[in-house]
Amino acid sequence: MRNDIQEVLFTEQEIQEKVAELGRQITADYAGKNLLILCVLKGAFIFVSDLVKKIDLKLDIDFMAVSSYGNATKSSGVVKIVKDLDAPVEGRDILIVEDIIDSGLTLSYLIDVLERRNAHSVKVVTMFDKPHRRTVGLEADYKGFLIPDAFIVGYGLDYAEKYRNLPFVGVLKPEVYSGHA
Ligand code: PRP
Ligand code: MN
Ligand code: MG
Repeated sequence: MRNDIQEVLFTEQEIQEKVAELGRQITADYAGKNLLILCVLKGAFIFVSDLVKKIDLKLDIDFMAVSSYGNATKSSGVVKIVKDLDAPVEGRDILIVEDIIDSGLTLSYLIDVLERRNAHSVKVVTMFDKPHRRTVGLEADYKGFLIPDAFIVGYGLDYAEKYRNLPFVGVLKPEVYSGHA
């Protein structure tokens, strides 16, 4: 699997240091609030499990799975809820956890849904950010690393569902996704 990686962008240690820093900020900001951590499946599953261990507060964790609706490129901006939250969010201080923000379409849809359900507050933490790819105006409240416009995998990020389990983030060799691997 590691043979498919051209270059490591962020090591496991760099990622873990960033997670700890984000956890400290969130712990300070959410003291006394009604924190609900919302993990967006599948990509955020590794980040969320590391992050919650660094948040020293009482909190709930819930999961949502979404997919773009009948459009693999996500250009339609229509998102379908595949798995919804287990509990109502009214009055909750929701922190949405994402692995990466690209166009911003997934998150802008989710934020809209949660606000209509009368959440008390909705904020976003993302480990990776590709701001130059944004098609909707959307900024995360907490960010890990900025990412160049390369095909990156690892730490939850997949290519065709593989590589999520790499503990670091790297650039995939072009021959892998051009089908000659
Ligand atoms: C990826 C990523 C974000 C979303 C970002 O998820 O994990 O959820 O795309 O893209 P956007 O900003 O353009 O909406 P994906 O749909 O690949 O599903 P996955 O998390 O199951 O891999
Ligand atoms: Mn995702
Ligand atoms: Mg994906």
